[in-house]
Amino acid sequence: MVIYHLSMECFPVAKVGGLGDVVGALPKYQNKIPGIQARVVMPWYNREYVRSHEFESVFEGWIHQNQTPYAVEVLKQKDSTLGFELYLVRIPGLLDRENPYGYWDESQQYLAFQHAALHWLSAMSRKVDVLHCHDSHTGLVPFLIEHCPEFEPLRGVRTIGTIHNGEYQGQMHWEMLSYFPPVRDRAHLGLLDWDGKINPLAAMIKCAHAFNAVSMGYMEELLVDFKGLECLIQMERAKAYGIINGIDTEIWDPQTDSHLPYHYKKSTALEGKAKNKAIVCEAFGLNPDLPLFGFIGRFAGEKGADFLPAIIVESIVRTYGALNIIVLGSGDPGLEKTLEELTLKFSNFALGLGYNEGLSHQIYAASDFLLMPSRVEPCGLNQMYAMRYGTVPIVRYTGGLKDTVKDISSGGAGLNFTYASSEACVEAMLRALSLYQQVPTMKALVHSNMDFDFSWERSAKNYVTLYESY
Ligand code: ADP
Ligand code: GLC
Repeated sequence: MVIYHLSMECFPVAKVGGLGDVVGALPKYQNKIPGIQARVVMPWYNREYVRSHEFESVFEGWIHQNQTPYAVEVLKQKDSTLGFELYLVRIPGLLDRENPYGYWDESQQYLAFQHAALHWLSAMSRKVDVLHCHDSHTGLVPFLIEHCPEFEPLRGVRTIGTIHNGEYQGQMHWEMLSYFPPVRDRAHLGLLDWDGKINPLAAMIKCAHAFNAVSMGYMEELLVDFKGLECLIQMERAKAYGIINGIDTEIWDPQTDSHLPYHYKKSTALEGKAKNKAIVCEAFGLNPDLPLFGFIGRFAGEKGADFLPAIIVESIVRTYGALNIIVLGSGDPGLEKTLEELTLKFSNFALGLGYNEGLSHQIYAASDFLLMPSRVEPCGLNQMYAMRYGTVPIVRYTGGLKDTVKDISSGGAGLNFTYASSEACVEAMLRALSLYQQVPTMKALVHSNMDFDFSWERSAKNYVTLYESY
């Protein structure tokens, strides 16, 4: 079975968040299953990974958008050290940028990626059994292959859509139809519509053979609150699934992680974590004798990042400075500024601004607790990385966090809180502090968390079973 994953992100080529991690790992684990050939197709980015690896051109062609021709090139990575074949779609002026997101013409950019990828697969008559589309950026694929004559060779190919984040649906005005490849029968255009706009996520739900959310908990939430798509998803619920993400345990391994100054395993976790903590604390001017609470993530409302200032102030004041907090992230400029100001007021608080893969690994290893006050969390990978590194997650009880972190009061591996608020998070942090003082219990938790099996094997198979059932 030949599977093509279509995605805007794939670690280590281009990663903004968990989508990159998932697409960098799932195909690799699928390729370990006999009879599976999983590949990744993504845009070409002007990035270090692309510049420092060798690629060969495998296709050259043209697409038209709004009557303007665009040259398309598809490049294949020469070696397969990633564990899968990697294809990059390059279109000068549209798909040759540094970042996946944030451009004014993003609707055109995503459309061009989908059009060009399908044009290549059709024109080369490539064997394709499954097109696995990730998020709204590739959500038009199931419609396009069924309703555009240009992609006739792909008609009937199984399509699966994965919803990593239902907050972004990719809506565009109907004028954008002129950027689409010609559609066979305009009577089918309604499949693209939701609420008077072209909605790629809605089109994916309508047209894909099956779709899934990245946890069962999130799928249950979408059925009642999906930013206006609730009744659609309820109508289509017969083909709705929840498949929890895994983590790449080869990359995320405290015994071998090249980003860590000190490696450790379960039997050396306490010493290993203490040494990593000492290094991080020294670098950020924090006292290594205090418990360390970390936060890593995008400064966005979904992540509850706007709660951070109040969490920092309240927890430090209420404990008379008996804890340290370190935050790594970027996003909302107002929040970045507020957090910068707080570093000047509180010596117990440190901030790393920007995206820093190495530092994120060090914080997972160094922290005693990881904070996830998310309003929305479709799956969340941070809590799994934290546990693999012997760190106790403190999570809001939502989406994938519900499925992966039970509270210690009911025999679980972390601390939960129900309300999306700074107060609820601080209460959980106070519980965490008393846990920290119960040394044997804390030690047992560090060890048992490291034993959790979040590896991709099971979920990679679940996806294959899903493909096979259509
Ligand atoms: P999301 O995809 O919604 O951002 P996930 O929990 O699925 O959330 O994944 C986030 C991923 O991005 C993790 O690998 C996390 O370590 C990483 N990450 C987030 N912010 C940063 C940052 N500022 N620097 C480095 N890694 C980050
Ligand atoms: C999204 C979600 C996150 C999930 C990730 C990977 O970005 O916000 O919860 O873990 O995708 O599926």
